[in-house]
Amino acid sequence: MASGSGSNFEALVAACRGGQLAATVCQLVVNNPGCGAEQRAARLGVPCMLHDHRCYASREALDQALIASFQAAGVELVVMAGWMRIVTQALIDAYPERLINIHPSLLPSFRGAKAIEQALAAGVKLSGCTAHLVSLEVDTGTILVQAAVPVLEADSVASLAARIHAQEHRILPLAVQLAAERLDLV
Ligand code: GRF
Repeated sequence: MASGSGSNFEALVAACRGGQLAATVCQLVVNNPGCGAEQRAARLGVPCMLHDHRCYASREALDQALIASFQAAGVELVVMAGWMRIVTQALIDAYPERLINIHPSLLPSFRGAKAIEQALAAGVKLSGCTAHLVSLEVDTGTILVQAAVPVLEADSVASLAARIHAQEHRILPLAVQLAAERLDLV
């Protein structure tokens, strides 16, 4: 599931194809037509389905459509790889212990939107990223993997984001592998 540039989606595809992750990315869903993730899917030959949230009456209706897509594709585990929508209990219940999110902070610090801006404003010297199982409350749930990065004196949002992104691409495949092993999927 992706809403934006899709670099985490591509990292997952690369990890599967490179043999570091015993999985197959069988489908991408996006909610923003023409987003970077959609373009990456076309380049990588991964089937992509658009579920534009603007076309659904409620969050629940969107999630029900997502579940139907996943079931049709035989999906066993779902990754929110930059999914900028709040999900409902319906999606969480459809994929218990197998719905993973990636967030650009060391949770439980700096939950919600603009986590990188929040870290800079707080003046922390260390930040990072967290891959975790999804619970109803945004950016909570069992932590699977974290990576820390230094926050440098001269950092801008862009420079800190780039440092964090590099670590997201490393830990997200690890988190998927870990979640799958916990469930005996591999
Ligand atoms: C990442 O920073 C992730 O932590 C957040 O959204 C961003 C997605 O980036 N949830 P990308 O679309 O994977 O490049």
